Amino acid sequence: MIQHDIIIIGGGLSGLRAALEAQRSGKSVAIISKVYPIRSHSGAAQGGINAAIGSDDSWEKHAFDTIKGSDYLADQDAVQVLCKDAPDTINELDTLGCNFSRDSNGNLAQRPFGGAAYPRTCYAGDRTGHNILHTLYEQVMRYGIKIYSEWLVTKLVIEDGQCVGCIAMNLLDSELEIFQSKVTIMATGGYGRIYARSTNALINTGFGISLAYHAGAELKDMEFVQFHPTTLWDTNILITEGARGEGGYLLNSENKRFMEKYAKDSMELAPRDIVARAIQQEINEGHGFEGDYVYLDLTHLGKDVINKKLPGIREISRNFADIDPIENPIPVQPGQHYSMGGICCDVNGKTKVPGLYAVGECACISVHGANRLGGNSLLETVVFGKRAGIDAAKFVDENTFSPTEQKLVEVLNDVKNDIQDIMDMDIDSSGSGSGSSSSNNESFAHLKDEVRSLMQEHVGIFRNEKGLKVALSKILELKEKSIRLNVVNMSKQYNLELVNTIELKGMIDLAHVITLSALSRTESRGSHYRTDHNKRDDNEWLKHTLVTKDEHGAPTIDYKNAVILDVMPETREY
Ligand code: FUM
Repeated sequence: MIQHDIIIIGGGLSGLRAALEAQRSGKSVAIISKVYPIRSHSGAAQGGINAAIGSDDSWEKHAFDTIKGSDYLADQDAVQVLCKDAPDTINELDTLGCNFSRDSNGNLAQRPFGGAAYPRTCYAGDRTGHNILHTLYEQVMRYGIKIYSEWLVTKLVIEDGQCVGCIAMNLLDSELEIFQSKVTIMATGGYGRIYARSTNALINTGFGISLAYHAGAELKDMEFVQFHPTTLWDTNILITEGARGEGGYLLNSENKRFMEKYAKDSMELAPRDIVARAIQQEINEGHGFEGDYVYLDLTHLGKDVINKKLPGIREISRNFADIDPIENPIPVQPGQHYSMGGICCDVNGKTKVPGLYAVGECACISVHGANRLGGNSLLETVVFGKRAGIDAAKFVDENTFSPTEQKLVEVLNDVKNDIQDIMDMDIDSSGSGSGSSSSNNESFAHLKDEVRSLMQEHVGIFRNEKGLKVALSKILELKEKSIRLNVVNMSKQYNLELVNTIELKGMIDLAHVITLSALSRTESRGSHYRTDHNKRDDNEWLKHTLVTKDEHGAPTIDYKNAVILDVMPETREY
């Protein structure tokens, strides 16, 4: 058994930041990560991180934009924390050596981003996440924080209602290990790969969110799924909003800047929910190219701006679409990008399960409400990562390790049995021996494709009751089939078929929760657009959705009012 005061699951920005803060309090801290930390998906964040540091800007204006952008569902007390902490957060990262871009006076440069009244987004070219990730990772190395790289956490251990550790599998040899802790912090990122089109890395399965759900945590606002307006056609690699921030245009097949129809003042820099819907509507109405994309035109920005401010976009376009944006427009389409919902927690990362915290994209502190503004997620990871680290250290001081190992061993044995079932399953009538695939068994690849297409088609940018019901009933069928999942690869070394199979069950659970939450919310707000209920309904729906697992293992829904302080909901004009 391995023991640490605080175990952080996930090695991206929020996990690293939480680890640093917890370590500073002298606690024994470890990170368990499915991949080597600098391969975390945080490294793919391109355009920037918001902070009101401009002379005409203020945290209040940042908060106002964030709340309006959220379609008024964000909790305003939490947004205040985020926006007040932002300038110090940037300052700290800068001091730690993050390679932020600067203006000609040597001050931090800021670019316009969607839904923001000021150019408020600090950036490091178009590789901001990569730069911050390396900065924080250097600090984690400097303080010698223990990292278990390439381990998959397979279950959280709950004893008398409290989280006392987890069971993890070393991918190197598939051996299972008990990790005992006083605090477990989930920092496992989003679930983008539940959708067929996503900017997310293959590792973003949402498995961490499903672990917390099974451990008794509430999942909040899962119906709010963000589609980024501009992902490279077909591959869905992110083409940063920074490209529009620098002046890029969106053009339809009539060569028109169609955003004037949808957001006449903000045009391409309206919030993401509005721009993504506009693009999809143009495509659906036959104004796209080849029925599937529109153009993002940067050619008028010129070679120098593109090379200096958007070098990564140029590289991606050339390598993956054979297009040089200096000369030709980039074909783009919306793709799933971010999850506003997640594990319900407070501004210190505490969930309703004692000893279990959440932070980053897997968490839902409700700073983004129904739609996140670009540049606020990198900010969220660092601001709330730090706060979770501080609070977790306090929790450690007030709690002891579980006195016996009995529960931990019991759960270890359950996980062993589950994995044994996946490896040994053979319900072939011929009884041809363990591990062999039979016609009755299911492979992860087939089921994963089914769930991803289903979510894309029926639980995407536009939704309605009929489609959501189709999705729900097919998800229940997939759940049934997932009982028969098995693997043909019996190797113990880096058995990715086994990893995928374990994670797929969690993906199906999340698909279920997202779809149910979307079906129940009979209004349109932010990223959740119901063609059959196409108006926002503040009388009925200014509230968060909370889903927990009931005693039979089924999702059950409850609601909680959004926190409104001084920004009153009004019509959202851009
Ligand atoms: O477009 C982007 O660069 C993405 C930024 C974000 O999601 O915050």
